[in-house]
Order: sequence, then structure tokens, then C-alpha cells
Amino acid sequence: MGTNKMWGGRFGEGPADIMAEINASVDFDKRLAREDLAGSRAHARMLADQGIISQDDATSILKGLDQIEHEISSGSFTFKRELEDIHLNIEQRLSDIIGPAAGRLHTARSRNDQVATDFRLWVREACARADAGLLALQRALVTQAEAHADTIMPGFTHMQPAQPVSFAHHCLAYVEMFARDRGRFTDAAKRMNESPLGAAALAGTPFPIDREKTAKALGFASPARNSLDAVSARDFALEYISAASIAAVHLSRLAEEIVIWMTPAFGFVSLSDKFTTGSSIMPQKRNPDAAELVRAKTGRILGSFVTLSTVMKGLALAYAKDLQEDKEALFSAADALDLSLAAMAGMAADMKANPAKMRAAAEAGYPTATDLADWVVTNLKKPFREAHHISGSIVKRAEELGVTLDKVALAEMQKVEPGITKDVVTVLSLAHSLNSRTSFGGTAPVRVREQIAFWREKLA
Ligand code: ARG
Repeated sequence: MGTNKMWGGRFGEGPADIMAEINASVDFDKRLAREDLAGSRAHARMLADQGIISQDDATSILKGLDQIEHEISSGSFTFKRELEDIHLNIEQRLSDIIGPAAGRLHTARSRNDQVATDFRLWVREACARADAGLLALQRALVTQAEAHADTIMPGFTHMQPAQPVSFAHHCLAYVEMFARDRGRFTDAAKRMNESPLGAAALAGTPFPIDREKTAKALGFASPARNSLDAVSARDFALEYISAASIAAVHLSRLAEEIVIWMTPAFGFVSLSDKFTTGSSIMPQKRNPDAAELVRAKTGRILGSFVTLSTVMKGLALAYAKDLQEDKEALFSAADALDLSLAAMAGMAADMKANPAKMRAAAEAGYPTATDLADWVVTNLKKPFREAHHISGSIVKRAEELGVTLDKVALAEMQKVEPGITKDVVTVLSLAHSLNSRTSFGGTAPVRVREQIAFWREKLA
């Protein structure tokens, strides 16, 4: 292989095969093609406006870039590994199309600020996609909530039935989590919105460039203030992956609940044929594979954070080729997140609650034992600890009798606490328990409907 046309002036021979192999990134960084073209267009226009290249050269560069864009989108562009990366592939093709003027595009620019710019643009877009995916999921959950403010299910602690809650309340808990996830992506997108373009290799450039102009053309709020930082910072990518990691953890929790709810012993929800699969041996099966895969993809996303933060740690300023290893980790995290969000939004919309199963499970777990203790506190003026003990003894008796709390005879209760009167029965029903939790943020349908209205408006 001959020396590299782009940088091989001082080289006598080409790279060893293995050198070319480890060096090439075009197989994955071709995903930056759109961003690379945008960066080059902004740069070429600015160079001409500043009189650094002629308007004629800029015009032919822009025409050539348009043709390349068309070739890439139509699939006719040939990506060459010997040209290393997307930047050199595009530049070489530009030179094939327009000739020597192509060589002027790289004035006052380096691949170091070029790749940093492309990558920021890509990650900024990924933040917007994550936000949109989370929004769609939130909407699906709010729609579920609207139908189920009065649907009682057991609320759990330690995975043991604790107190009755509504299915709507449970769905809205996730809406809150996903709202904070969106906030993290929005914050990250804002912080990364500074343009590295014009930082050149690491120190800036003597050419009279206008960095404000290129920043503005690319939708950045401003140029990055320090050229060393501009080419070497990747914390914007780390921030994306960390926001993605937290969102993935939330998705995984919901996925796990769907898996549990789908098991016939629970049967709290069902998913249609659209989001389940069968077994090749057991004909009766309906497996929640999509939920399981969302749960599992969390591993890949969390792993990407470890990958990229390990690449970055101990990396002296400014650019080093280590930074080429930033992309696959991020792409992998972004692909997994995008897919997980779409699958989860699909499942959240598809999921059909089974109120009878939820109620039966709630009834089985004595979830109004706290209500009974509260009644003893209020009506018999006992300290809560004592009331807790009384209620616990009545639960024990109910268990022995094999009945729910509201079916325990008054006489049985009075054996435990003689002060208990027949009025107690009013607080032992699931509906009473649910309706009574009217504190702000509580599960009472009146409060939950306020929250639904809040989210409806906010997500409109
Ligand atoms: N493909 C490289 C990357 O992803 C582009 C920058 C190369 N710069 C250099 N000086 N070799 O980081």
C-alpha cells in the first residue's frame, strides 16, 4: 500500500495491515456522515466569508458536498477502510468530484475539532431522541392511569402486599421517574451545546476565522472557549450515557414489574400477541420477551459508561487516538436506549390491566391492617405502637380463620381488644383505605386524578 494521500508527506511506505486494521474507524464513524457534512458546509461558508478561500472554491465545495450527501443517502457511496475514517472518506471523495479545491476545505481545521464537532452534534440529537422517546412512554402511562384511578392493586414493600394503591398511582410513579430522566437529557444537551469547530488541532489557528459564525450555523449557543478543552472533552458523551444509564435503570424496573405482573400467579396485566412470544416446545406459553430484553439492555448501557469513562481516565490533554474509542460505546448505548424506549412505550400502550386479579391479590394480603391500627389510635386513643400490636393480633386471627380482615367477626376482634366497635368495619375495605389516603401525593383517586390532569397538561 502506498503512503496516505491525506497525511503521508513525510512517510516512505504505507502502514502494516494490522496498523490499518486497528486505525480504521469508518465502519462505525460513518454514522457521523450527516454531521460531518453539516460541519464542512458551515466551515466552507465561513472560510469564504472571511476571504480565507475564494467564493468560487466554496461554491464548488458545497456542490461537491451535496453530491456526496446524495451518494451516501442513496447508498452508492463507497466507504474505504484505507481512508481510515468518515472525515477522510468524505474529503477524498470531494477531491475526486471537484479536484484540488477540495484540499482548501481543511484550511484552519483539523480532524480533531472536526470529530469533536460532529460527535457533539450527534449526541445532541440523541438527547432530543431520548427526550421524545421518554415523552411517548410517559403519555402511554398517563393514558393507562386515566382508566385506572379506581383500580385497586396491592402496593408492595419488600415485594410483600403492603397497602392498597391504585394502578393509576403505580403508573404515575414511573411518569415521575421518566420526567426526571428527561430533565437529565435536557440539561446535558444544553451544557454540550458549544462548538469545538475552529479549535483546530489543539491550539487554535492563525487564520482569521469566525467561530461565532460556524457555531451559529450549526445551532450551537457559542464557540467553546478553550481550544484544548474543545478537542479533548468527551464529558458530553459521558453525560449522555449517564443519563441513559439512569433512564435504563428505570426502564428495567418497569420491565421487571411487567414480567412479574405477566406471570399467571399474578396476572395483573396481559400483553397482546404484539408484544409477546411463544415457546417452541411449550404450547401454552406467552412470554414477555420485550420486557426481558429491555431489562437486559440496561447492562449494555451501563457497560458503555464504564467503557468510555475508562477510555477517558488518565488521558493527558489534548487529543489522543484513544478518543476514537468514544463512539462505539456511545452508539451502542444510544441504540439500546432508543430501542428500549420504543419497546417500552409500545408495551405500556398495549398492556391490559386485569382489575379482578389485582383486587384478589390485594384482598389476600391484609393490606388494611394499617387502617385498622389507625382506627384504634383515633377511636380508642391508644399509642400507635400498641394499636399496631392489636391489629397484628387480629391479622393473625384472620389468617387462622382463613378470611379477609373485613370478614373477621366483631366478637373475634373484641377478644383481642374489647374497645373495638362495629364501626371499625368501615375502614377495613380496600376502597375505604384507598379513598382515605388523601394527603398530597397519596393514592386516593381524588389526588391521583389531580396528578393525571397535571401530567395531561404538561405532556400535551
Ligand atoms: N477518527 C478520529 C477519531 O475518531 C478522527 C480524529 C483523528 N485525528 C488525528 N489526529 N488522528 O478520533
